[in-house]
Amino acid sequence: MRADREALAKMRRAGAVVADMHRAVREAAVAGVSTSHLDQLAASVLTSRHATSNFLGYGRPPYPAVTCMSVNEVVVHGIPDERVLQQGDLLSVDCGAVVDGYHGDAAFSMAIGRADAATSRLLEVTEAALAQAIGVIAPGVRLNEIGRAVQRAVEAAGLHVVDGYCGHGIGTAMHEPPDVLNYWPGRGGPRLAEGMTLAIEPMVAVGTPDTFVAGDGWSVVTADGSRSAHFEHTVVVTDRGAEVLTRL
Ligand code: MF3
Ligand code: CO
Repeated sequence: MRADREALAKMRRAGAVVADMHRAVREAAVAGVSTSHLDQLAASVLTSRHATSNFLGYGRPPYPAVTCMSVNEVVVHGIPDERVLQQGDLLSVDCGAVVDGYHGDAAFSMAIGRADAATSRLLEVTEAALAQAIGVIAPGVRLNEIGRAVQRAVEAAGLHVVDGYCGHGIGTAMHEPPDVLNYWPGRGGPRLAEGMTLAIEPMVAVGTPDTFVAGDGWSVVTADGSRSAHFEHTVVVTDRGAEVLTRL
C-alpha cells in the first residue's frame, strides 16, 4: 500500500498496539509459563486498545489464536498451547493488530532465561539482518536491495535464510503485494516509493534452510530440528529512509 497522511496515522496506531502486545508477552515470557497464557495476554492488549486481530481466523485451517508462538525448531506459525516454556528455550513471538481497517504485523525472538552461545548469536544475527535491511530503505532504492541486505548479513555470519517464506506489503490487508524476499533474486525489479508500507521479516536457521509444515497444518518446523529465529517490523518508506511503525 501507498499510505497518505490519514492512512499513515492509522498504520502508526496499529503498529503501536502490536508493540504493546510484544511488550506484554516479553515481560511475561519466563520458564513455567505456557504459550497459551502469553497469547491471552496479547489478546487482552488488543481488547484494551480497541483493536482486533488479523491472525485469528486467518487462512485454512482458520488460525486459532492472536499470536504465533514458535518454540526452538519451530520457525514460524507455531500455535499457542499448554506447552510450558523451559529455561533455555528459544521463543519466537509473531502477532498483529488492526486499527480502523489498517494492519500492523511484527515478530521477535527471545531466549527464556539464559541463552546458550549459539542461540545468542542466532538472535543477534537475525535482529541485525532486519536492522540492516531497514537501513537500506529509501525512495528510489530497489525493493530487491532489502533481500540482498538480509542475505548478506545472514550468510556473512555462516547462518541460513529459511527457504520458502518472505515478508510482504501491508496496509488495509495483512498480506499485500509485493513479496519482500529475504534474499537477492537478481537485478531489476520495482523501486521503493515514499509512503509504501512493508513488513520485513528475516527468518534465519542455524542448520538447514529446509522446513516442513507439522500435522497441525500451521507450525513450520526446520527439517533438521535445529533452531531458527524470526524478527519482523512493519515500516513505511519516508522521504529520507524508513520509519518503523512497530517499534517498542
Ligand atoms: N505474521 C505472519 C506474517 O508475517 C502471518 C501469520 S499467519 C497467521 O506474514 F495465520 F498466523 F496469522
Ligand atoms: Co508478516
